[in-house]
Formats: sequence, structure tokens, C-alpha cells
Amino acid sequence: MSDTAAAPATSVAPPVENVVELRDVHAGYLPGVNILNGANLTAAKGELIGIIGPNGAGKSTMLKAIFGQVNVRSGAVILNGQDITGLRANKLVAQGVGFVPQTNNVFPSLSIAENLQMGAYQRPKVVAERIDFVTSVFPDLAKRLQQRAGSLSGGERQMVAMGRALMMDPHVLLLDEPSAGLSPSRQDEAFLRVSEINKAGVTTIMVEQNARRCLQICDRGYVLDQGRDAYTGTGRELLNDPKVIGLYLGTLGA
Ligand SMILES: Nc1ncnc2c1ncn2[C@@H]1O[C@H](COP(=O)(O)OP(=O)(O)OP(=O)(O)O)[C@@H](O)[C@H]1O
Ligand SMILES: [Mg+2]
Repeated sequence: MSDTAAAPATSVAPPVENVVELRDVHAGYLPGVNILNGANLTAAKGELIGIIGPNGAGKSTMLKAIFGQVNVRSGAVILNGQDITGLRANKLVAQGVGFVPQTNNVFPSLSIAENLQMGAYQRPKVVAERIDFVTSVFPDLAKRLQQRAGSLSGGERQMVAMGRALMMDPHVLLLDEPSAGLSPSRQDEAFLRVSEINKAGVTTIMVEQNARRCLQICDRGYVLDQGRDAYTGTGRELLNDPKVIGLYLGTLGA
């Protein structure tokens, strides 16, 4: 054996561990009308992904496609390598998808504690431990677990809604406009909390109207336009891309 016969030094990149993938998803609510027209997205383990774009672009629909709330007519939604296209919400929650919808995301007549318990009704044994985690992320909730969710401010409700979705220790957290309707200081807090949750290890996909702020904190972003991912890149790349600035950030995020 000679020294020169050694195996060629090919470097094989390790496979990227995608928690979520949307592959060429076409989806819609009404027969014959598609809202998503070939949408693609990947979220690798631990990433914070932002989705921005104009009103009606299909941002919420993209999250609903992951959470089985819109008819996916072609393409696929993949979770940890498994096809989950069209699975029902209770199955998706059990498989580790946490979803915080844009509106009506708490049970107003229930207390904060009851809202959180509802988040883990499929795994009652973990409730106490997960409430400890959620109240460590949102200390303001700890002091008022018995307060009715309907009596909370918008920002506090948003915390309860995120807390509820975190109760199952999800593989991926889907957030639809966590800063919507909040005062500027409460918006700052919402973005800070999302960052903290992500840094605690939760892969997160966030839709936001506040495009600039979203791109500033996310690892990678997608600009959605008419149901397609028009641009993608790191948050910084998109913030500095003249086309993205001209078309989407000029009015959306200034
Ligand atoms: N349940 C529904 N039934 C029929 N059409 C719907 C439904 N939900 C949304 N749509 C339509 O799908 C399109 C995209 O809506 P979607 O809510 O995904 O947009 P978006 O990008 O989240 O907008 P926004 O920034 O206003 O939240 C819109 O034209 C909307 O009218
Ligand atoms: Mg929306």
C-alpha cells in the first residue's frame, strides 16, 4: 500500500436537519381558487424563520397549510422527515406542532392557568412542569394564573396564547403576527419573548406585518407575494436587498 492510494478527501456536508418543509404547496379554501401557488419553505432545527409580505399574500394561509387548516391540493408539508400534509390539528399537536393563530387565540372565559392546561390536555402528566417553563418565559403570567384571560390586555393575551402553544414542548412553534395590535413598547416585548423562546431551542416560524423588526431578529426570512415565496435569504440579506426594500419594506416596515 502506498501513501498516495489513500481515499480521496471528499468532504460530504452533513445533511441539514429540517424540522419543517413546505414543498411546492398549492392550497386554497374554496373549490378552484388557490391562495398558495407553489409555496416553499424550510426551517432547520433551532432556526427562527420570518414570513413577511403584503396583506392577502397568503402568510396566514402558509401557517394554516402546516397546521392542516386549508386544503393542500398539491405539494407536501413535511415535519421531521414525515409527510404530515392534511393531518388534523389534534394529531399535529401530538406530533409537536404548536400554532398561535392571528386572532381568537385564547379562551376568554377561562383563567390563565386553565388556558395553559388546555394546551397540554393530551399529556396531563406534563402540565405542572410545563407551566413552570411557561411562567419562567413569561414571569408576568405567574402572578395571575387565576385571572380570567378575557380580562387581560392584548399583550398579555398574546403571552397566554404563546404559553398555551408551548405547553406541549413543540418541535416547531408557528406564530401569526405576535406583535399585531400591541403598543410600541409591548411590540418590543413580544419580539424579545419570541427571540427568547427560540433561543431556548424552539424552532419558530413567525408571520409578521412589522417586516423590519421581524427580519432584524430572524435567522432567515421569506417574502411571500401572491402565494409564492418571492424572495428568501438571511434576515440581514433581505433587509439590505434593494428589491425587497423597494417592494416590501418601503411601506411595510418603515
Ligand atoms: N377561510 C377562508 N375562506 C376563503 N378565503 C380565505 C379564507 N381565509 C383567507 N382567505 C383568503 O385568502 C387570501 C390570503 O389570506 P391570508 O389570510 O393568508 O393573507 P395574509 O397574507 O395573512 O394577510 P394579512 O396580512 O391581512 O393577515 C385572502 O384573499 C383571503 O381573503
Ligand atoms: Mg394574516
